[in-house]
Formats: sequence, C-alpha cells, structure tokens
Amino acid sequence: MNTSVIDTQSSFHPESLIAPAETLKKGGLVVFPTETVYGLGAVFNDENALLKIFAVKGRPSDNPLIVHIWDVKQLSSLVSQVSSKAECLTKAFWPGPLTIIFPKRSLVSGVVTAGLDTVAVRMPSHPVAQALLRLTDVPVAAPSANLSGRPSPTKGSHVVEDLFGKVEYIIDAGPCPAGIESTVIKLEPDPVILRPGSVTKEMLEQALGERVAVANPDNQEHPQAPGMKYRHYAPQAPALLFEGDPEKVVAEINHRLDQGKSSERIVVISSSEHLTRYRNEWVLDLGPLESPEVAASRLYDLLRFCDQLAASQILIEGVKPQGVGLAVANRLRKAAGGCIVRVS
Ligand code: TXA
Ligand code: MG
Repeated sequence: MNTSVIDTQSSFHPESLIAPAETLKKGGLVVFPTETVYGLGAVFNDENALLKIFAVKGRPSDNPLIVHIWDVKQLSSLVSQVSSKAECLTKAFWPGPLTIIFPKRSLVSGVVTAGLDTVAVRMPSHPVAQALLRLTDVPVAAPSANLSGRPSPTKGSHVVEDLFGKVEYIIDAGPCPAGIESTVIKLEPDPVILRPGSVTKEMLEQALGERVAVANPDNQEHPQAPGMKYRHYAPQAPALLFEGDPEKVVAEINHRLDQGKSSERIVVISSSEHLTRYRNEWVLDLGPLESPEVAASRLYDLLRFCDQLAASQILIEGVKPQGVGLAVANRLRKAAGGCIVRVS
C-alpha cells in the first residue's frame, strides 16, 4: 500500500488533514499524533476498517480499542449513560490523557469493545488530533500505532518503522509530549485505575473527592483492562529491572556489568544522576530521579534505541512509583516482562 506521510512539525495547516479525514470516513487507516503516543485510527462504525487495525498491528481480537472524540457531544453516539462521576472527570481532565470506561450503546460494535458491554473513550488534547477528529466528525477507534508487542510509538519515525506501507496516512507531528499511554479508569462500582498514566491517582482522587484504587498489573489471570495481560512495551533484548534503594541499585547493576562477557552489548538505562557511575560503554539517560515526567517522555524512544543498538541485555534502574512515576514503573515492569530484581 502507498503510505503518504504528512509532516506538521514546521508548520501545521489544518487543511492538510482534509484528505486523511476523508480517508478515515471511507474506511481507511490513518496514524495520528496525540499528547500520549501515536494512534492507529479507523472510524468506530466500520467493522471492516476496525478489523484492519487488528490485522495491521497483529493485535489479539480480545483486546478492546479506545474510541477518540473531539467534543463531548459525540459521547451520546457511544455510551448509554454518563454518571455524575464520569461527568466530573470529563470536566476536570478532557481534553487530555484520561480514558474513561462507560456502559456502551448497543450500536457500538463488539469489534471495538472485544465483546465487552463497556466502551473506553478519550478526548485527546493534541492540536493535530483535535483537528483531525473535528474534520472526521465520527468517533475514531485507535490503539497505539505500534506492531503488537513493540514499544508504543512516540515519534513519527517509530511509526514509519512499524507501519509504513500498511496504512494510507501517517501524520508526523514530532515527539509526543507525555510519551506514555493515557490513564484508563473505570468508575463502576468504584473508581479503579486499570492502567496508570499522566493523569495520576492523586489528581483523580482530588477531582472525585474519594479514594481511587489501582488494579494490580501482576494479576494476569483476571486483568481488568484486557490489554494489560500481554507482554507489552517490550524491546527485543531481555530487560532486567532493578527496584529498591537507589545506591544499592547502582551497586547491583555494576556487579552484573562486571560479570557480563565482553562480547555482549549490555545497555544500562540510568537516572541522570547516576550516568557516570556505571562501568559500561552504553548508558542511556532516563532523566532526573525526581522527574518521572521526563522519564515518561523518553522511555519508549530509549527502548527502541536499544533495539537499534542490537543490545543483548538491558539493565534498567527502577523509578519511584509515585505520581507519574507509578505509570513509568508500570511500563518498566512490562518492558522487563516481569524480570525484576529487588535490592534492599
Ligand atoms: O494514550 C492512549 O490511550 C493511546 C492513544 C493512541 O490514545 N491509545 C492506547 O491504546 O494506548 P491501546 O489500544 O494501546 O490500549 C488500550 C487499553 C488496553 O489496555 C485495553 O485493554 C484497554 O485500554 N481497554 C479498552 N477498552 C476497554 C474496556 N471496555 N474495558 C477495559 N479496558 C479497556
Ligand atoms: Mg498499545
């Protein structure tokens, strides 16, 4: 397939999105930027187009999609009820990186929801996403625009790597500011974060005025967000995550480096503070210890860079699971496929 790349980085003219919007309406696939990660979009009401999303990504059909809207008026075509809690969250966090689970209207295809009676909806704040969704004016279902199992794309070049030749349009707006996928929350019977993201537990609790639980990502048998059960966000090389006291983590990673063979290309992903502490050729900077937002924005790019380096092993410093750090820690655990070393 012929893929057209539209670059909106130097100057953005909404007219350049008329053709991709028409393509969406005719059942085509368009990759577009959001403030979190790039999305692989198709209109929510065309089953053939939706099935193409699953085929192109190699995505299991039991993993439901998030539907993207540009205006709350579009909610009525998707959901059967908006509770007062849901309304409170839409007012506080939309447009932005929060996905809310609603009871679905019967006309929403089971292909979108993987047969569930709920639908996940979000309103992205990225101006290019907003403009595309407005021009299309039909809600757009979009998973992250990576091949299944690969790290989510946070730059146009990542999308080109994974999906060039498989979609009609790629809209390249440069790096996604947040860099990790949206927070997913379900509200019934009580608020539970199914996937942590840049809208934090603390922010949600403040808006709702009640406690918000976080689903245990290690519960693989009964995952609350079906997508959380798959090995995700993963680089090609095996990754090992070191959690615990920062000084002891540095010592333990150095100990492993000393044991490694010289023929191996081991890559360390380190906080900015510890970059010079490792006895290793390749040490990548995840950002300052106290800035999980920076880590979030860099993480997937660094994991893809490890693939380019043909790393044989990746040793990763854990982050403090607080605020946005909770989401970063969650993605790091996924990247490590559960291979976690706790040092204390
Ligand atoms: O930031 C984002 O959310 C990005 C951008 C493109 O918007 N999208 C994204 O989509 O990350 P995806 O498909 O990679 O992840 C969707 C997550 C999965 O974990 C899926 O299981 C969960 O949302 N999900 C979707 N519908 C659901 C539902 N009805 N109930 C529970 N979880 C749901
Ligand atoms: Mg994804």
